[in-house]
Amino acid sequence: MMSICRQILPKTRGLASLTSVRAKATLPELPYDYAALEPIICREIMDVHHSKHHQAYVTNYNAAKEQLDEAVAKGDANKIISLQGALRFNGGGHINHSIFWQNLSPEKSNPSDALQKAIIRDFKSMDCLKAELKTAAVGVQGSGWAWLGLNKKTGLLQVVQCPNQDPLQATTGLVPLFGIDVWEHAYYLQYKNLRPSYVDAIFDIVNWKDVSARFSA
Ligand SMILES: [Fe+2]
Repeated sequence: MMSICRQILPKTRGLASLTSVRAKATLPELPYDYAALEPIICREIMDVHHSKHHQAYVTNYNAAKEQLDEAVAKGDANKIISLQGALRFNGGGHINHSIFWQNLSPEKSNPSDALQKAIIRDFKSMDCLKAELKTAAVGVQGSGWAWLGLNKKTGLLQVVQCPNQDPLQATTGLVPLFGIDVWEHAYYLQYKNLRPSYVDAIFDIVNWKDVSARFSA
């Protein structure tokens, strides 16, 4: 799971939670090799995406978080406010990619019965869900993400777009189940300008076990 969540939401209070809050975010290991998702996503994309892009979000989030801790200690409100953009962008990048790696798998799987029922209830069919996700993903202007999220208030599934690295839960309240990264770094080396082809292909490597587990959790 994401180390960032453990930092923001410590389960214990007192010294243990203080230590946890101060811990640095770290790059999670992929649950598969860089080449494991070929031919859908080539090794080079996975390598650069994980070891360079995701690592940069982790590094920059930690740097911003360190400055935030100092600013909080000094009670420097201007500094605290000035750091929000960097925290949102880099923290979001870390959260989003940590989910994304788990959302994908070289092994075929199916949604759980409960998730399948919810998909049919809210989208009529799996094909309709995929079509809605594709429309959202292809329609992101510039860089961003398309998400299947769970609205905990209504219990309904929703497809939404998030710009840049805005993390779904922190910016919309929806629980992220499955995300499609449509930043060009996610596909351009292989799919060039054909974002729709990349989105079509990614449905072949969805880790429905992971998506189902997020849904049931
Ligand atoms: Fe990405």
